[in-house]
Amino acid sequence: MLPVKILAPLLRFFYRLLYYEFAWSYDFVAWFVSAGQWRHWVHSPLPYLKGETLLELGHGPGHLQIALAAQGRQIYGLDLSPFMNRQARRRLKRAQLTPRLVNGYAQRLPFPANSFEQIFATFPSEYILHPATLAETLRTLKPGGEFLILPSAKLIGDSLPARISNLLFYLTGQAHPSPTDIHQPAVTLLQRAGFAQVEIKTLQHSQFEALLIIARKPAGLPNNLSAPSAV
Ligand SMILES: C[S@@+](CC[C@H](N)C(=O)[O-])C[C@H]1O[C@@H](n2cnc3c(N)ncnc32)[C@H](O)[C@@H]1O
Repeated sequence: MLPVKILAPLLRFFYRLLYYEFAWSYDFVAWFVSAGQWRHWVHSPLPYLKGETLLELGHGPGHLQIALAAQGRQIYGLDLSPFMNRQARRRLKRAQLTPRLVNGYAQRLPFPANSFEQIFATFPSEYILHPATLAETLRTLKPGGEFLILPSAKLIGDSLPARISNLLFYLTGQAHPSPTDIHQPAVTLLQRAGFAQVEIKTLQHSQFEALLIIARKPAGLPNNLSAPSAV
């Protein structure tokens, strides 16, 4: 295994290309590393996304944007990569759905306080637990609203595709953490930011399992929290 000092910048470079200049290859790479399951992984939080006005952080190629817009929901999306914005916008337009996409940082949301019933992200990078992202999520959620994060999924069983997929995730620094690995740091950060009732669910499907974190904005929290000034 390459030492972390070499591997970490290499991985950062790989992900930067995958989200920017090579964003056109993202779906294929995701399909490949998940042995064809990526779309199912990304769609797995759908039963928990019940709000009418929602925001997706780091929307990527826009598969959940399509699924939710097709149900007539007011779904907004924000991504740092203009390449991902473009891809998701094209996909929504092809499906004759209205894109509501913004380019920007999750750490500085261009939406008024108290806007969304739910804010969610699938397979986000570290930005998702950045204190500024948590403050902004809390500010823009309605009182009692939910913040949902799907940090990881993995194929179950001992089949060859499952073993290859788990190895690829390990090699790309995305190994599936156990609920206890991710539980304490995420819960502590979310609670420190002001969220209540933080729970972690394991979503069980026939071929894979995924982790879902759900945190609620307290119903009584004032909505005059202002946007943080620095990212
Ligand atoms: C692993 S991809 C996940 C894409 C999609 N949600 C999925 O499940 O396939 C992470 C996405 O987060 C975006 N991203 C990274 N940092 C961000 C930030 N600070 N604010 C908003 N989006 C960000 C990237 O451009 C990329 O599209």
